[in-house]
Amino acid sequence: MSFVEYEELIKEGDTAIIFLGHGSMFPVQVQHGAQTQTKYGVIRHSAHLIGQPYGSRVTCSKGGWVYVLHPTPELWTLNLPHRTQILYSTDISIITMMLELKPGSIVCESGTGSGSLSHAIIRTVAPTGHLHTVEFHQQRAQKAEEEFREHRVDRWVTVRNQDVCKNGFGVSHVADAVFLDIPSPWEAIGHAKDALKVEGGRLCSFSPCIEQVQRTCQALAEHGFIEVTTLEILLREYNVRTANLPLPDLGGALDPLPVLGEAQFKIGVPLKETVGHTGYLTFASKSLF
Ligand SMILES: C[S@@+](CC[C@H](N)C(=O)[O-])C[C@H]1O[C@@H](n2cnc3c(N)ncnc32)[C@H](O)[C@@H]1O
Repeated sequence: MSFVEYEELIKEGDTAIIFLGHGSMFPVQVQHGAQTQTKYGVIRHSAHLIGQPYGSRVTCSKGGWVYVLHPTPELWTLNLPHRTQILYSTDISIITMMLELKPGSIVCESGTGSGSLSHAIIRTVAPTGHLHTVEFHQQRAQKAEEEFREHRVDRWVTVRNQDVCKNGFGVSHVADAVFLDIPSPWEAIGHAKDALKVEGGRLCSFSPCIEQVQRTCQALAEHGFIEVTTLEILLREYNVRTANLPLPDLGGALDPLPVLGEAQFKIGVPLKETVGHTGYLTFASKSLF
């Protein structure tokens, strides 16, 4: 397995996602001899996981069962150990599209944080692209590198442990796209311009506060970026369920005994709690001129 290439069978060293039910999942590092406890009993890696196809239903020691899923960046985002606030798939999807990422893209990112966005970028730019990610917090940079190795995606990513506002991305005129998720992105816009290809490229900055957006847009204008757009993406999820409605009594004057009953419908109901504000996404293009 890798987060980039699908493989049929579970093997030693894989990161598999154990799916217990809706909203209940966790990742495991598959190892010969290892055991994982669940509320349905023990999963024995050698007997239950290794050599089995991804997607298998595994019966645990107490008779309950779980599904074992192949990892994807989207599942990892929902299951990763948080070392920072992270980006979720709704924002990530629009970032991927608006930065025009595709296989072969060269991308610069800062900060790496918990690597949620990094995994999605790597999956999109592989097998011919590359991610240069910058994180000034030493332990976070190191942990991200370890995870990229464990997930067998390290050949598509370079982690640099430095301050992007002072030292930039460590590369010059190579990037098709730059992404910023740091508290003071306006201080990194000059370095972003330098990292982008001479012929131009796309930039995105994620900020929770509008004051950060204002300063970033100011810096983008000063550095000659064009097509500056700020947007926010709000997700509304629906529960699909069955509703029973009483049939109307339409008078039935000619009908001495009207037939009353219920009709069943499938309806979509918005979830009571929806995700609120995550952040503003400011996009811009580096001008050719
Ligand atoms: C909110 S987290 C990024 C989360 C990431 N986008 C994800 O999806 O997991 C911000 C990260 O930027 C790092 N950071 C903040 N300022 C920085 C700077 N000037 N240079 C490099 N990294 C920085 C922080 O240490 C933190 O890990």
